Amino acid sequence: MEVKTSLLDNMIGVGDMVLLEPLSEDSFLENLKKRFDHNEIYTYIGSVVISLNPYRSLPIYTPDKVEEYRNRNFYELSPHIYALADEAYRSLRDQDKDQCILITGESGAGKTEASKLVMSYVAAVCGKGQEVNKVKEQLLQSNPVLEAFGNAKTVRNDNSSRFGKYMDIEFDFKGDPLGGVISNYLLEKSRVVKQPRGERNFHIFYQLLSGASDDTLKKLKLERDVSKYNYLSLDSATVSGLDDAANFRTVRNAMQIVGFMEDEMQSVLELVAAVLKLGNIDFKPESRCNGMDESRVKDKNDLKEMCELLGTEQSVLERAFSYRTVEAKMEKVSTTLNVAQAYYARDALAKNLYSRLFSWLVTRINESIKAQAKTRHKVMGVLDIYGFEIFEDNSFEQFIINYCNEKLQQIFIELTLREEQEEYVREGIEWTNIEYFNNAVICDLIENNQNGILAMLDEECLRPGTVTDETFLDKLNTICAEHQHFESRLNKNSKFLNDHSLPHNCFRIQHYAGKVLYRVEGFVDKNNDLLYRDLSQAMYKANHSLIKQLFPEGNPAKVNLKRPPTAGFQFKASVGTLMGNLQTKNPNYIRCIKPNDKKASHIFTESLVCHQVRYLGLMENVRVRRAGYAFRQAYEPCLERYKMLCKSTWPHWKGPARNGVEVLMTDLQVPAEEFAYGRSKIFIRNPRTLFFLEEKRKQCLEDLATLIQKIYRGWKCRSHFLLLKKSQIVVASWYRRYAQQKKYQQVKHATTVVQSYTRGWQARKLLRELKYQKKCEEAVTTIAAFWHGTQVRREYRKFFRANAGKKIYNFTIQRIMQKYFLGLKSNLPSMSPVDKSWPSRPYSFLDGVHAELRRIFHLWRCKKYRSQFTEEKKAVYEEKLEASELFKDKKALYPSSVSQPFKGDYLEISKNPKYQKLSSAVDEKILLADVVNKINRANGKGSPRLFLLSKKSIILADQKTGQVKASVPLPDLASVSTSTQSDGFFALKLKEGSGSAVKGDFLLSSDHLIEIITKLHRISSMAADREKLNVNISDEFLVQFKQDKVCVKFIQGSPKNSNSVSCKRKNNRLLEVSVPSSP
Ligand SMILES: Nc1ncnc2c1ncn2[C@@H]1O[C@H](COP(=O)(O)OP(=O)(O)OP(=O)(O)O)[C@@H](O)[C@H]1O
Ligand SMILES: [Mg+2]
Repeated sequence: MEVKTSLLDNMIGVGDMVLLEPLSEDSFLENLKKRFDHNEIYTYIGSVVISLNPYRSLPIYTPDKVEEYRNRNFYELSPHIYALADEAYRSLRDQDKDQCILITGESGAGKTEASKLVMSYVAAVCGKGQEVNKVKEQLLQSNPVLEAFGNAKTVRNDNSSRFGKYMDIEFDFKGDPLGGVISNYLLEKSRVVKQPRGERNFHIFYQLLSGASDDTLKKLKLERDVSKYNYLSLDSATVSGLDDAANFRTVRNAMQIVGFMEDEMQSVLELVAAVLKLGNIDFKPESRCNGMDESRVKDKNDLKEMCELLGTEQSVLERAFSYRTVEAKMEKVSTTLNVAQAYYARDALAKNLYSRLFSWLVTRINESIKAQAKTRHKVMGVLDIYGFEIFEDNSFEQFIINYCNEKLQQIFIELTLREEQEEYVREGIEWTNIEYFNNAVICDLIENNQNGILAMLDEECLRPGTVTDETFLDKLNTICAEHQHFESRLNKNSKFLNDHSLPHNCFRIQHYAGKVLYRVEGFVDKNNDLLYRDLSQAMYKANHSLIKQLFPEGNPAKVNLKRPPTAGFQFKASVGTLMGNLQTKNPNYIRCIKPNDKKASHIFTESLVCHQVRYLGLMENVRVRRAGYAFRQAYEPCLERYKMLCKSTWPHWKGPARNGVEVLMTDLQVPAEEFAYGRSKIFIRNPRTLFFLEEKRKQCLEDLATLIQKIYRGWKCRSHFLLLKKSQIVVASWYRRYAQQKKYQQVKHATTVVQSYTRGWQARKLLRELKYQKKCEEAVTTIAAFWHGTQVRREYRKFFRANAGKKIYNFTIQRIMQKYFLGLKSNLPSMSPVDKSWPSRPYSFLDGVHAELRRIFHLWRCKKYRSQFTEEKKAVYEEKLEASELFKDKKALYPSSVSQPFKGDYLEISKNPKYQKLSSAVDEKILLADVVNKINRANGKGSPRLFLLSKKSIILADQKTGQVKASVPLPDLASVSTSTQSDGFFALKLKEGSGSAVKGDFLLSSDHLIEIITKLHRISSMAADREKLNVNISDEFLVQFKQDKVCVKFIQGSPKNSNSVSCKRKNNRLLEVSVPSSP
């Protein structure tokens, strides 16, 4: 359900000044201030919106706000500029009424911002679609372009509009925008050449210099430094909060969207650059022969660059700054210009160039945004004109601006009153006359065709003879002397003769907004707005498409001797057209107020606001609105709002709303003179009656709220109680069920237990009985078996006794043996002959068998081991076995020889060429060849000899020469002697009487003693024809050296002796060998 709200809800102060009670200037201001302090910058006077500039962005222009105000009645929500825009748009769309939005207020009051807000609101709520959006975008984007070229920083406003703008937005029957037309009014072109202190030239100059790329600037022959240009004031080149560079990009972008071509944009920038260049052209005097000074361009560089930019011929322009051609009656007269005149001409050209460029921009934008369709349009006009201006030094521009504001005020008064009157007539209410100040008299003072100030100025400008600003002032003084709003010192009216605040060269006009003092200086010139023909012709000749268009009067083919219309005349005409236009439309007013002079937020300077309230005639506006009836409201919303005040209308009134309101008013006993019934609205005379109704409504709402609260609370408690009750029943039923369930489970459990016990008892009883029965049966069987057994045993006893014992014994023995053998088989030791392990015997009666088996097993595995041997290996082992038999446990040297293989030929005698001769001397195969020491009997020292052994003989030879020293046939060898110790000494004893015995026995020492003796013994044992060689092992034996027998004695060496064996001759008969004790 849509909630109906009202402006009267949650009001801060009063939202509509018409309802102000009591109404006075103080209360008016206080109300404004109170609202301003609470960020409520909008307040109504009926349908007029007062807007206070907040000087900061407020969160009240969001898309949500747009939605909030969309399609809502004007008084339904708190005051807002959107409400006015919505009302105007809906009335245009639904009632087919053309609208105009008139935005007034002084400079910096927020007119331009307001116009943009209205346009953006309308753009947001009107139709959508690709084409429509493009139109909207173009209309909105025309603003940044015009603001760049037409706005400037002034002391009052950082973005002050220096031109008047009226924009007609055209819509189709659905309310979709089709296009628009912009009209511009009098650009303040004097600003191009000179700016008051603290102010700037038009934004575009600064934007171009700081925002354009280096490349662009180069093309335009410009430098980025602002100080390089005379036309740009330096003291406020940058404005805080204004980013010129970013704005330049915005402007270029906007121009693109609006539809400017790239070359058009370039041309526009060239003209802007040309203006800057123009300002830098300086002149110097040059004396002529007639004694007059003639001006000459001082430094031609800027002129040259400017001419290049505009495509003009430098000489033509240069000449135009030095001479002036005057044409009169088909005659051309050329006069020289002095320096001052040249400067004047230069500035006039700059001003004209810029203002014409501005007008061209407007025309160009209009071309882009003009509506395409030829059908009838509905129109919404938005007027944003420069505000009323009162400066210290007011000139022609201020006069024109203030005249325009004067006209607007007049139309405001007229239309407000007319609308009020029309509403009364429409509603059938009697009209009562209202007293108000009508400024028509001031308008008349300015614009009267016979004796108006503008007419006199024109007259003066066109008059032949010397015309100066003073002659103009004189004229004013005579003609307007009697006018009550005109004041002058030279006036015959003695009132101002001694008024020193009024200088002699000034006149003062009492505008509706206050008195303004105008200095007449420049009035005539500015009104004439003359540009020397030579200059316009020079411009026309330029090779630049845009310039040519801007100076059509320069075309020599169309020389027109008639003077162009004056600036004042043109302005008056355009204001006249504007007023005519506005009067055909339904007006909507936004009256902007500036809260302080500091451009600061939160500051409300009462005196300043008071002044504006006065000159805007806002109090009068309220009075006019309240003159008849202060408040009016359609019957339906009125009944909806107050129906709770009467029983008959509450809660629903069946029947026409008007009847309902009548019943309501009668019931409330409102005096009849306090209200009147119109056709669709009720009119309330005094705000206090409205407030009485509001108060009653508030009380009633409170009572209703209490009632609603009461009923709601009762309902809430009851529903709570019912809920509790229902829950209690549910809980109880669930509990009972649970309790019964539990009880049943217990009984069931108990029954099962009892049952199980009973069954158990019964089963046990049965079991007992069955067991007894079974026992009885078993007992019977056992007894029977025993009995039978006894019977059988008794019968067979005799057979058993004879054989049973032996059989059992044999069987047992067999079992044991079987088990023993199987166990032995699985536990046999390894096949290594040196493995000594053998399983232990299980029974002592197996002792002998066990040992025998061990022996057999050992023999068997030895046999197995031996069977792997080859013949050579076998011979080696046989030799080793023989050595063992000879020496084991007899000679201490033996154990160390066991691990040494018996190599036999240690000298490799057959291969060694040294011994070749030797080996050939031995015809038998050499079984052993080694080096031995032959011990000398004289000193016990050994000398090395080669020792060769063959099957038949032993040969001793010289180690170095290989010459045979002795050859002993083996049969001559009687025995071999050696000691029991670990030495290598051995004696070869020869048989007495043999051929070899002549030289005596040989006492030798060898590292391979065991091998030598074993081999000797073996050869002798193998020879069938000889007896075995005798091997004598003892520590003392005799050796026959030629004639003498010498005893060789072996003793254990003491530790101090060296580790080696030493042989010493003790005496003639004794050689003592000391052998180190074996470790
Ligand atoms: N509704 C607003 N919200 C926030 N700031 C605002 C609003 N209205 C105005 N302003 C601020 O005040 C400044 C001046 O407003 P604006 O340019 O609209 O004044 P103006 O009445 O058009 O003045 P002029 O007659 O000099 O053109 C704006 O630049 C902006 O900073
Ligand atoms: Mg403005």
